[in-house]
Amino acid sequence: MTLEKVKPKKFVLTTPLYYANDLPHVGSAYTTMIADVISRYKKLKGEEVLFITGTDEHGQKIERNAEANNLPAQEHCDRIVSSFKLLWDKLDIQYDRFSRTTDTQHQKIVYEFFQRVWDNGDIYLSRQQGWYCVACEEFKEERELLENGCCPVHFNKKAEWYDEENYFFKLSKYQSQLEELYKNNPEFIKPKSCRNEILKFVNQGLKDFSISRVNVKWGFTVPNDPNHTIYVWFDALLGYITALLESESKDSTLDNAISQGWPVNLHLIGKDILRFHAVYWPAMLMSAKLSLPEYIFGHGFLTKDGQKMGKSSGNTLDPFELVNKYGPDPIRYYFLKEIECGKDGDFNETRFINTVNADLADDLGNLLNRTLGMTQKYCEGLLPPMSGIDLPKEHPLKKIGLNLGENVIKAYDNLKFNEGCEEIFTLIRASNKFIDEQAPWTLFKKGEQKEVEKILYGVLESVRLVAYLLAPIIPNLSSKIYKQLGFSVDFNQVECLEEVIPFDKHSQWGKLAHNNFLSKPQPIFVKLDTSLKNDF
Ligand code: MSP
Repeated sequence: MTLEKVKPKKFVLTTPLYYANDLPHVGSAYTTMIADVISRYKKLKGEEVLFITGTDEHGQKIERNAEANNLPAQEHCDRIVSSFKLLWDKLDIQYDRFSRTTDTQHQKIVYEFFQRVWDNGDIYLSRQQGWYCVACEEFKEERELLENGCCPVHFNKKAEWYDEENYFFKLSKYQSQLEELYKNNPEFIKPKSCRNEILKFVNQGLKDFSISRVNVKWGFTVPNDPNHTIYVWFDALLGYITALLESESKDSTLDNAISQGWPVNLHLIGKDILRFHAVYWPAMLMSAKLSLPEYIFGHGFLTKDGQKMGKSSGNTLDPFELVNKYGPDPIRYYFLKEIECGKDGDFNETRFINTVNADLADDLGNLLNRTLGMTQKYCEGLLPPMSGIDLPKEHPLKKIGLNLGENVIKAYDNLKFNEGCEEIFTLIRASNKFIDEQAPWTLFKKGEQKEVEKILYGVLESVRLVAYLLAPIIPNLSSKIYKQLGFSVDFNQVECLEEVIPFDKHSQWGKLAHNNFLSKPQPIFVKLDTSLKNDF
């Protein structure tokens, strides 16, 4: 009897589907960069991954923006979508699916889902009265509003009073099932701060929420009631399911989509849209008798002087300007390394420049440069033919290096990219110090060739390992380092990396025993020019 190998399920992760109301801002870029790093990391390990991003294109906010721009709503969305795709390209975001809620197959999924929830008796018609923040696309409790009648996130856009007939979803019916869910799955909402926020919210008692609008034309009409369109959030969350369908799929049914990878493993979101993902969405899925995502991770806000960056506050950064000025790797590095995923983080251009110059140019780039230079001089440009076993146990780089892979994997698996980077830079700094202390140039003069080779091997192997472990974050710089070390690898070709540079070997220190021809040192990272900065 032959045992069939069970293929591990692919890892599916999503970013939010961003509102197509305006050009992408740095907050959307932040979420997407984190998701891309997770996806690249898993692909590097040889896992099958489906990385979903996309746009949320219906609703009042977009309808009004299109009107303000004198464009038909669809054309307005098409333009905005191109700008999102352009930005993701510039930031080297390698998504697998781009889900648009105006795709025709999405409508079929929404209708089928709506019908299931309806058949389950969870939709009813009633009257909705309340304050609505169009920018959030959400009803607010009066106590949540500021004195000026605006919501705290959009503090210069007044909430509007709505009094209309709406269809409602029976969220309250799912109160105890949701409580059970959170109790039995402490990891369902991460990090802890987000979980606590949701527990507190649900504890106050859940109210049914309205899932249709009568004053919005730009959306899918409610089946059998064309006076209503489906509420943008009800529609958008389902975009995660539609995304599972191949774009040219002829069979756009819910079952077909579900069979392509539902439930997703991770919804990566900003903490401001936590309730929708951790409360409304699971309840909707329960009603439709579908399984729930494995977990939801809410990251923090990018702030300026402690305040959330956003268009309403006028304190946002233009991500196009940033990437055009500095290129993708420094930006990806800064956001992943300097901000703890899950906490808020301030952005300051001077600090950004100083950090990347110090880490990527002074520490990492310089280390490669000087070591390669010495290898050209002392070893005829060949990586000394040995492996980690040839170095003593107490070798300072070996000591750090042997645990590094494991520590970084642990950090990355928990989305602690800042900790992973800290670990990696410990080896980089130790390597620079090691060369200074060992002074191979003196040993070379004394004719101690074997010693020189050991020193250079230890350092070059350390540079290789850090380049490999940093590849999900700075793929271009890592590729340059790997090339100079004699490997013909492009870390942007994520699909075939495992075959060329197997993870088990390359994520570990000292496992490589190559006789590679090393290239002449070329700077991998030219220091950023502080005169480019534009601190606001
Ligand atoms: N369309 C909804 C999501 C629907 S998902 C089915 C939406 N879109 S959004 O464009 O407004 O926001 C998308 C993401 O950007 C959110 O995760 C939000 O947290 C993030 N950010 C917006 N401003 C931010 C910062 N200043 N900092 C970090 N991320 C923030 O919500």
